[in-house]
Amino acid sequence: MTLAIETHQITKLYGDTVANDHIDFSVIEGHIHAVLGENGAGKTTLVKILFGEEMPTEGEIKIFGKTVTIHNPAEALDLSIGFIHQHFTLVNEFTIAQNFALGIEPCNNLFFCDYDTVNKKVKNILDMLEMPLKLDVPVGSFSVEERQIMEIGKALYRGAQILILDEPTSVLTPQKIEKLLDILRKLRQEGKTIIMITHKLEEAFSIADEISVLRKGVLVATLPHDRVNREQLIRMMVGEEPLITLKKEDHPFGDALVQVRNLCVNNYDNRIVKNVSFEIHRGEIFGLTGVGGNGQAELVEALIGMRPASEGDIRFDGKSVVHWDIQKRRLSGMAYVPENRIERGAAVSLSILDNLVMGHHYLPEFHQGLLLKYKNLQSFARDIIKDFEVVASSLEINAGSLSGGNLQKLIIGREFSLNTPFLIVAYPSQGIDIRTTKYVHSELIRRRDTGYAILLVSGDMDEIFNLSDRIGVMYSGELVAITKPEEINRFELGQYMVGSRRNC
Ligand SMILES: Nc1ncnc2c1ncn2[C@@H]1O[C@H](COP(=O)(O)OP(=O)(O)OP(=O)(O)O)[C@@H](O)[C@H]1O
Ligand SMILES: [Mg+2]
Repeated sequence: MTLAIETHQITKLYGDTVANDHIDFSVIEGHIHAVLGENGAGKTTLVKILFGEEMPTEGEIKIFGKTVTIHNPAEALDLSIGFIHQHFTLVNEFTIAQNFALGIEPCNNLFFCDYDTVNKKVKNILDMLEMPLKLDVPVGSFSVEERQIMEIGKALYRGAQILILDEPTSVLTPQKIEKLLDILRKLRQEGKTIIMITHKLEEAFSIADEISVLRKGVLVATLPHDRVNREQLIRMMVGEEPLITLKKEDHPFGDALVQVRNLCVNNYDNRIVKNVSFEIHRGEIFGLTGVGGNGQAELVEALIGMRPASEGDIRFDGKSVVHWDIQKRRLSGMAYVPENRIERGAAVSLSILDNLVMGHHYLPEFHQGLLLKYKNLQSFARDIIKDFEVVASSLEINAGSLSGGNLQKLIIGREFSLNTPFLIVAYPSQGIDIRTTKYVHSELIRRRDTGYAILLVSGDMDEIFNLSDRIGVMYSGELVAITKPEEINRFELGQYMVGSRRNC
């Protein structure tokens, strides 16, 4: 048994924050190793150190038995370590070959890049990954999951033997997650070593040979997957504190706060949302689901005013709002937790306080004439940090220094704290640890119980079944079903999602 990676007493300090605390972590060659832990536990920091994106404050690293110092990602690649980031690194305007070979292009006799050679190698890799993709189109035209797999392809192209993936499944729908896990199993068969960070225990159990848990910067344990169960893992992740249990009771709905009538949304000449009608009542969680890319995102963007409707009407509290801009809709009582929170919802170069105030600064309690009321803003921000357990050393630090999940919690907290009667929440558990997911879910139910209308957009079946009062399913731009969780099973929901069945 060879160890591909071995760390000895790795410590990483960011000011007073101990992101990694004397970590001894080892990964067996040819194995898949899952890394779990709550938001801010130090998972990303540890793998960034292995990829040379951060230098440890202390400690030692061995790669295939040899002690090394990894100053930057180029050196990590020389050691055959590839890193698949949570955020894509491909240049959208370039083709696959141009992306894979970027900066390491082979030259022909005339010093031009020899794209024939590149294309051949790229094709072999794509064949192995079972991705029959067109080589001559810009990568921006591919789907999220295709680009994710391309990121793996790029690392393989560059000779990676060790692949590190930071929450690769958080942006994928359940069907695509299975496909990705299959690819990782195949790469293991080819002898690659894989480290995968995830918040989903099922994924760790289904794919990993060993599982490591980090808590507050400390490596709690590394165990073979068949020597640990779900409850033990949760306890290792969250400590002794019990998790909230969800309680959702039936109650009558109020009036229809949101009414969508024959809504159509176009993207250039393409009709992406087709004639969709539904309503959401006060006191109701309406769960909207479907396979990604079937119009859910565009429908939501039209609801909040980020995209124009081509036809149809949106009524909010009895008024037609379809021609209102986003600010007017927000002021009238809509809040929105976007799917792509980090790109759409946050400014990472601004402070935490600025990020929390963003979108709220025009509210009467936060400004007087041209002046902002800083005391009120600060206490508003502190409450969010406390309620959503955002791990942050102060309100003044850059939002970019928060862990991925803590940044997401910040944005969710901001939108929830508006206390608007209508809340749109897209993929709330994406990138969020188990404890916070439970908290967010319980807050959604609490708000529903006090009369909010909630639109929950999610591809996670558990989330949809546990929280929704009614479920709407989109397929190919149409709302093909409106049903209740108690009236269908998962198989039937799946049938609606792939368009083989409809009820409206
Ligand atoms: N560049 C930085 N500057 C300051 N603090 C940082 C920086 N990067 C990370 N931290 C802090 O280090 C701690 C660990 O962060 P890390 O990103 O490793 O967590 P994580 O386990 O990946 O969490 P998540 O599940 O939310 O992605 C956090 O408290 C975070 O705020
Ligand atoms: Mg992380």
